[in-house]
Amino acid sequence: MKGIILAGGRGSRLYPLTPSLSKQLLPVYDKPMIYYPLSTLMLAGIKEILIISTPEHIDIYKKMLGDGDWLGLSLQYKVQDKPRGLADAFIVGEEFIDGDKVALILGDNVFYGHGFSQVLQESAKMEEGAIVFGYYVQNPSEFGVVEVDDEGYVISLEEKPKEPKSSFAVPGLYFYDEDVVNIAKTLTPSARGEIEITDVNLEYMRRKQLRVSMLGRGFAWLDTGTCDGLNEASNFVRTIQKRQGLYVACIEEIAMTMGFIDGSGVLDAISEGKSTDYYHYVKNIVERAHERKPGL
Ligand code: DAU
Repeated sequence: MKGIILAGGRGSRLYPLTPSLSKQLLPVYDKPMIYYPLSTLMLAGIKEILIISTPEHIDIYKKMLGDGDWLGLSLQYKVQDKPRGLADAFIVGEEFIDGDKVALILGDNVFYGHGFSQVLQESAKMEEGAIVFGYYVQNPSEFGVVEVDDEGYVISLEEKPKEPKSSFAVPGLYFYDEDVVNIAKTLTPSARGEIEITDVNLEYMRRKQLRVSMLGRGFAWLDTGTCDGLNEASNFVRTIQKRQGLYVACIEEIAMTMGFIDGSGVLDAISEGKSTDYYHYVKNIVERAHERKPGL
């Protein structure tokens, strides 16, 4: 399975921070926002990843993450010249996907919770159809909303409904089989002028191939789309890191934990940050790799 991070858009709700800065590069506490969705794909075991951003910002991502070799990844980059909608990721990414299965994550979605790696790795083993997630929120009208029956089958799926049929939002992380590119190509733009990911999911629902995996209440799916949301996400990450001394979304640590790299070249790759706590955290991980306890 391949992965796509969609890191374009206007970020208009964060004005005046954006558009001079790419939203997905803004800090969530001590890391650029994109580290969080990147770490989610890595935890799913996905190593071939396409980053899609705007013509103005794509080069910054290339400079920051390079070809991904230092993390044991293969990273590619592609421009989306206009924000045509989330489903456009599959059209922009068609060549990269090249008939494979693909996971899409939005560049502003932050996930954190016990057992998440297992959920991700099981989803990435999917044979056919699509997998989306459901997460209980107090403001479902701001998201895609899914309604499921007692046996977990999807009854309805709506994009930002005024009168939501459930409190379960669909977060910006989706797993699809190889049909997704053709489905995306058949879509017509919605009232907001975008080809909607919800319409992709509705097509899988019609085919009875849409599965919803519920993320329980002990789980964090954080919003970074507004200044308050960004601040709250930063505080959340800071609180966890200070309490445990373990980092959230440290991509070098995840690359080692997942066995993508053995850690030998990683300190050279981040040597610019030698004076930071981040560097010392990674250094400690590299030096103590052999002592690592299972479950961390
Ligand atoms: O965050 C989850 C929600 O994301 C889902 O519940 C909704 O079903 C889904 O439609 C989407 O809703 P939003 O309205 O919040 O999506 P937004 O337009 O804000 O785009 C999400 C991110 O994707 C944002 O960081 C910008 C980026 N983006 C967006 C579009 C439309 C692109 O890179 N290209 C695009 O064409």
